[in-house]
Parts: sequence; C-alpha cells; structure tokens
Amino acid sequence: MCRIQCIKVKSLVSGEIDCNDLKALLLANKHNPAIINLNIGTTMKGGIDDIDVVIKTLEESGFSRDRFYIHCDAALFGIMLPFLKSGPKITFKKLIGSITISGHKFLGCPIPCGVLITRLNYMNALSRDIGYIASRDVTITGSRSGHAPIFLWYNLQKKGLMGIKNEVENCIRNARYLKDKLGDGGIGAMLNEFSNTVVFEKPHDDEFVSRWSLACNGNIAHVVVMQHVTIQMLDSFVEEFIKSRSMWFKDGTINKALCIAHEVGALNCTCSFHKAKDIPTPALQLVKQNV
Ligand SMILES: Cc1ncc(COP(=O)(O)O)c(C=O)c1O
Repeated sequence: MCRIQCIKVKSLVSGEIDCNDLKALLLANKHNPAIINLNIGTTMKGGIDDIDVVIKTLEESGFSRDRFYIHCDAALFGIMLPFLKSGPKITFKKLIGSITISGHKFLGCPIPCGVLITRLNYMNALSRDIGYIASRDVTITGSRSGHAPIFLWYNLQKKGLMGIKNEVENCIRNARYLKDKLGDGGIGAMLNEFSNTVVFEKPHDDEFVSRWSLACNGNIAHVVVMQHVTIQMLDSFVEEFIKSRSMWFKDGTINKALCIAHEVGALNCTCSFHKAKDIPTPALQLVKQNV
C-alpha cells in the first residue's frame, strides 16, 4: 500500500530472523531508514525474533534510533507469551514502535479483528477527526467494527487471567506431547521452546494432508496446538500418521523419510542419512538456535 521497497531477510532453522543476513542487508541499504517487521511467533514454525539482538544489529550497522522503526507481529503468540514463565519479554521499554495481536486466534473472537498497540506520538500523528462520528480515528476508511471490542472484552472477562494462563499452559503441554509422540514414532519433528506450533515432515499422501487439514510448506507441515486439541486427538493423529507412513514407505516408489534437516535441524531429522549418524535424541529436543 505504501509502495515501499520490501526486502526479505533470511531466517534461522527456528524460524527466527537471521541477524547476520539482516546486518548485510542494512549495510547494503544504509542510505535508507529501515522499517523492520519482526515476528513474535512465525506462522510456520512459531519462531520468536530476538528484539534485543535486532536492535543491537541496527546500532552496529549505524542505524540510530531515529532511522528505524520496529513493528512486532504477534498475531497468535502475543497473547500467549506473557503467560509463559521465563519467556522473552515484549515491551515498550525496548525500542519498538508497535505490536499487533489477532483477536480471532487464541482469544477466539468469531469475527476477524485485532489489536494494535503503539506509542502515543505515532497515534497522534496519524489519527484525524472524523466529523460525523465526533471521534478521532486512525483507520484507512474511518470505519471500524463496534462488535469486535465487545467480543474481545467479553472473552477476556470470561476467561480472566488465570483462565488464559491455564489455556496457554495446556496448549504448550500438549504441543510438547505431540512433538515427543512424533519423535517416538520415528517422525522428524521440531518445537521451539516457547511455541505451540509443532513442525514435522510433510506426509506423503495428499488425502491424509487434506483430511487432517495440515498446512504445508515445502517438505514440512505443522500443527498449531490450540485449546480444543485433546490428547486423544493427538494420539489418533500420530497413530494414523505412523500407520499410513509405514504403508507409504512399503510402496517401492517411496522408500525413505524425507530429509528435513535443512528445515528443522539435523538433530530433529529422521531421514536415513541423519538417523544413521545415530545422534542421541533427547526426549524433547527444543530448538532455540540455528543447529
Ligand atoms: C505471524 C502472522 N502474522 C499475521 C497473521 C495474520 O493475522 P490476521 O488474521 O489477524 O490478519 C498470521 C496468521 O494467520 C500470522 O501467523
């Protein structure tokens, strides 16, 4: 919409932004200020960008604080992260300009909506008087849903802090259970330390993918473990995956697990090459760094 030049930055195995690549791109584009879109939970892997490292990279590349703007896209995980003890802190004490959270994801609003939190000076710079509603507004069209905030408010009131905390902990626990169960079944899988998104090798069979409604990207697929997911569901998913997999692999045309080391790290890959290396796999191999 703004017709600003957009540059993609590489990511690490975890899905986090690769700050070495970011630095190279910043140095190559020193003449322009930078608007950086960070992810607090990437879509495919749930990777959380390290705000401190990004700011350090900007400073080291000669970008003073008046020459960069950081937006934090926390669509799914922004509302979950504050409830995880020892999780990274996303705060306006750091040099970020804004953060967004979707209302229709974890909070379950029945209509698409979201919350943008920004600094007052940016809000004042952008908002204008909409005469006929006797209010100030920052939206492009000057219109917005009145229902969405009510649904959000209702949801927050109904669950309360403890309610949300319990839901978050349950999702994380179940995601870890799924990651372990896939690993025990010999299926390459990965789970970031602070995430409910389990990444694993893409199933060979399109029918299986579509029946379980799996989102795939290249050689990987993911399951986002939300509040409605039960242990029974996860058990039947993995059992069916393992059973189908043994049939796919029996077929002469497909005889080996996909190598997904590039996507999930060698430790989490169960292809014949990486498995043969006999790397001891801990019960829960949590990905934090590029491995
Ligand atoms: C990282 C990220 N940003 C943004 C979105 C989209 O958010 P919304 O549906 O609120 O536009 C998604 C997911 O759908 C996402 O994973």
